[in-house]
Amino acid sequence: MNKFQEEVTKRIKENNNNKLLLDSANRFFTESCLTKYSYNFTVLGRPAIQYPQDMIAIKELIWQIKPDLIIETGIAHGGSLILSASMLALLDICEAITLSDDEANVFNPKDSKRKVIGIDIDIRSHNRKAIEDHPMSSRIQMIQGSSIDHLIIEKVKNIASGYKRILVCLDSNHSHEHVLAELQAYAQLVSVGSYCVVFDTIIEDMPIEMFSDRPWGPNNNPKTAVWEYLKTHPEFEIDKQIPNKLLITVAPDGYLKRITK
Ligand SMILES: C[S@@+](CC[C@H](N)C(=O)[O-])C[C@H]1O[C@@H](n2cnc3c(N)ncnc32)[C@H](O)[C@@H]1O
Repeated sequence: MNKFQEEVTKRIKENNNNKLLLDSANRFFTESCLTKYSYNFTVLGRPAIQYPQDMIAIKELIWQIKPDLIIETGIAHGGSLILSASMLALLDICEAITLSDDEANVFNPKDSKRKVIGIDIDIRSHNRKAIEDHPMSSRIQMIQGSSIDHLIIEKVKNIASGYKRILVCLDSNHSHEHVLAELQAYAQLVSVGSYCVVFDTIIEDMPIEMFSDRPWGPNNNPKTAVWEYLKTHPEFEIDKQIPNKLLITVAPDGYLKRITK
């Protein structure tokens, strides 16, 4: 680790002891949930229902892992798909720079094997069209259906069998039962050194009144599913450093790193 990186690691660790900073971040998070802050951002023109901090974390992970396949549950308007696809396109461009002049002459950015699969139970036609018309669309495959339907799981597993470095992001139905079933279906596809990112684990830490119109809430959410899954899956560990760095994140205990086969 170089000196700069050592200083970053030290600063991130110290965040944990800074009560004022942690309290301010928590207050900002709660207030910003009430104003639907996470609905205000776009990625290359498509709305992403995300906090900017988590989007940066995903970009850092994609650069670090260099996946050839990203599997995402929960498409909505497509912003997270476009974020992933655009990072895969950048990985392709960076690799193309090392090609010989002859190879570079036949390099076609549309031919990439790298791909994002997005699964959603309800892909609205206007969202589908906007994603299909987007310049990043050649790297995106959308599948409509429930992410825990066995036919959908089989389809995704078949596609994944042709890939080596796989990253998974779960952001669909946020109930305990659903996320646990998603973890059981897709986490095993994550390659060693890569991550399964489980969004909206923060629900466990939020006031119950905030979810009165939702089937999920404290005690029934992605974080409780992660905790249950990890009891029998020591091949994953929670990366605490990412949320400690972000401070504002929807995924505390949700960045799961695969450490062994
Ligand atoms: C929070 S949004 C996804 C946001 C998106 N990942 C982004 O960053 O912009 C949740 C999505 O999950 C989808 N969804 C809900 N239940 C589902 C299920 N059983 N299977 C797959 N998708 C589901 C919804 O239709 C909705 O589009």
